[in-house]
Amino acid sequence: MTTPLSVSLAGRDLLRISDLVPSEAETILDLAVELKANPRQPLAPGATLGLYFAKHSTRTRVSFSVAMAHLGGTAIALSPDELQISRGESLPDTARALSRYVDALAVRTHAHEELEAWAEWASVPVINALTADEHPCQALADALTIRDRLGGLDGVRIAWVGDGSNVLVSLAALGKLLGYEVVSACPPGYEAPDVENVVDPRQAVAGADVVVTDTWISMGQEHERATRLHDLEPYRLDATLLSLAAPGAFVMHCLPAHAGEEITAELLYGDRSAIWDEAENRLHVQKALLALLLDV
Ligand code: CP
Ligand code: NVA
Repeated sequence: MTTPLSVSLAGRDLLRISDLVPSEAETILDLAVELKANPRQPLAPGATLGLYFAKHSTRTRVSFSVAMAHLGGTAIALSPDELQISRGESLPDTARALSRYVDALAVRTHAHEELEAWAEWASVPVINALTADEHPCQALADALTIRDRLGGLDGVRIAWVGDGSNVLVSLAALGKLLGYEVVSACPPGYEAPDVENVVDPRQAVAGADVVVTDTWISMGQEHERATRLHDLEPYRLDATLLSLAAPGAFVMHCLPAHAGEEITAELLYGDRSAIWDEAENRLHVQKALLALLLDV
């Protein structure tokens, strides 16, 4: 380990990117690079992470579980359906009791306020594993992916095209800490709070170093499917749009993707896609985060 763990996040919650200061975000990325090169390091021996997931997940659930195994600890999947919370036990009592067993909790849920309630009642660190408002672990993986490819983040121009989702909110907030710029092109009514937006996707993508999109229908929005498909149709990320970006620009997507909706299959699987590296980087940044946050 060459990165001294002098920045500690011991005992801290990560609910929003704004819970971090720049040096903390940079330390997470630096440690992630080391853990990518040397994945199995016993930095949290015997530690336990509870995974409370009230929404579906492939990458977040598995990458947190593998990260704990690589650190010498254990992750415990906690499906709400199998807990007493689905039979009426309160969230505060669930959080209080779980805190007597596990060293940290990763929570994926709907309303951000519910995540805040978990943080209020748990006495162990709570990590946002996605809410309707933010997806900070995704943003950390995205920043690592871009830094890996471009050699740095300062002054990098990122164009976001499509829905102003939770992922965009976290990505833009992290840019304020790490020095990259995010301009979104979301249609009226689909903009993200606190992100510079233009209506024309060509304007956002012109000269950009990276072009990012996300599903048009996030979890919990399934009932809006027809309207969203209609409104977001002009915002598909395809080769014509990407041709306006800087030479060498690449595309990113947090996944799961819907080829032919928000992104073409050509870009999703093509040689200008950083998407599969991006998915891998979830493992490395979350492992770094856990190593810094678990106080064992
Ligand atoms: N990107 C992401 O969070 O994927 P999952 O929903 O599969 O966890
Ligand atoms: N915006 C998407 C991200 C999935 C990882 C959602 O919230 O469903």
